[in-house]
Amino acid sequence: MTDDGGADGGDAGDAETVVRRDRFAGGPARGFMSSLAADERIFAADLAVDRAHTVMLAEQGIVGDDEAAEILSGLDAVEEAGHGALPDGEDVHEAIESAVVDRVGSVGGKMHTARSRNDEVAACIRYRYRADLLDAAEATLALREALLETAAEHADTVMPGFTHRQYAQPTTVGHFLSSYAGAIERDTARLLAAFDRTNVSPLGGAAFAGTTFDIDRERTAELLGFDGVVENATDAASARDFLVEGTAALANLTATLSGLSTDLIEHAKDGYFDPSDDYASTSSIMPQKVNPDTLELARAVAGDVSGGLTGLLTTLKGLPRAYNRDLQRATPHAWDAVDVAAEATEVVAGAVATGDWDADACAADAGAGFSTATGVADALAAAGVPFRTAHELVAEAAAASPADADPETLAANLDAAAGDVLGESLHGYVSREDLATALDPAGSVASRGSRGGPAPDAVADSLARMSGTYDDHETAVEARRDALAAAETDLTDAVERYA
Ligand code: ARG
Repeated sequence: MTDDGGADGGDAGDAETVVRRDRFAGGPARGFMSSLAADERIFAADLAVDRAHTVMLAEQGIVGDDEAAEILSGLDAVEEAGHGALPDGEDVHEAIESAVVDRVGSVGGKMHTARSRNDEVAACIRYRYRADLLDAAEATLALREALLETAAEHADTVMPGFTHRQYAQPTTVGHFLSSYAGAIERDTARLLAAFDRTNVSPLGGAAFAGTTFDIDRERTAELLGFDGVVENATDAASARDFLVEGTAALANLTATLSGLSTDLIEHAKDGYFDPSDDYASTSSIMPQKVNPDTLELARAVAGDVSGGLTGLLTTLKGLPRAYNRDLQRATPHAWDAVDVAAEATEVVAGAVATGDWDADACAADAGAGFSTATGVADALAAAGVPFRTAHELVAEAAAASPADADPETLAANLDAAAGDVLGESLHGYVSREDLATALDPAGSVASRGSRGGPAPDAVADSLARMSGTYDDHETAVEARRDALAAAETDLTDAVERYA
């Protein structure tokens, strides 16, 4: 009942007996069983895998050069006609094989010698997914570029920083945005790592138990631009952990993206950030509205991707070795996740790159809620007051001050609290000048120059380091793209030798 794949090269039958599509035709569950429509995504991958496998079979003398030439010409014709012209089939692998046999006759059936659809589909998924991972990595680079450039422009733009959505300490737009550049940097690294574990060839694993033919697994891997082979034949056919790894990286990315979206939505509401019209929408009834819809949609994508990850993991959980048809339903979760994550990342990159920051609105709130308090406590502690005592003193002044107290009021209340807590004037510890600096949001920011802090010089140093890593990652993505392109050329050359 089941197709266990494996070598059918010994089948000397005519076209009617090798064309598998007729064997189970017409059952009521045929549509349920078929992945042909979804397989459009791996149509090009399957053609490449078929070509590489056929070339290897010929090089190994498993099929004749003339036979390989016929198969390869059949594949060209199938490619030309496109996925839409494929005969009905359980999947793209079967349909392409049938279409080749239709064109070149029963010799087309030799293409499936020394392999199974199990290693074939795994190779196709890896072949396509690696390119998708590079697209996603490139989207993270675009977002990092937008964040780093906008951060550099706004290294001096003082704004309120929040914890628990409460005014916490003054920071800068540059420091805020570079915090996300730091997070997305790790997403790029994770996607590159996922690429590297995806980019190995399962071909030659056959159904799960290898093959009697003298194949050259390293050669098909090389022809397809894979960096190596999945060692164990059963593992080769079974493994989908590379999809989990990639999707998990994307789930992480989109979780961060959703946080960035929320921050920007909040900052738009507070008048700090103004998304460009291209990334906003309006209301059908309220004419004044400019809504940050793109950011809300990008925020929601975390749901799609974590749902995809859950879909993948729950499909894979408990699956025994080696191939089980459940795997067919695992793959689309990964396609959907990578598509929507890459798109959302690009959209947020655009929103960051084109939005405006209102420096005056940011500055107006930068000291709100006595958010300079920590700097005052730090100044007292630097003068020798135990930090806990300084904290108590400043807390007493804060409790006595209205949320919108000006620096003069705060200074008076601090001095009164110093009388209570220390039994002497605040200015025995902190000069009026230093206190004024601590109470000024820009002065407060400038004083926090520790590595990774918000002082403009510290942000400039961080941005320089992050730009260096950006360049490294850009080079890493390009190197992988170049290697894939070179392998494509090599495969075309190898195929042409049989023309
Ligand atoms: N369409 C299948 C999938 O996506 C291809 C492999 C089918 N293999 C099999 N032995 N039935 O997983």
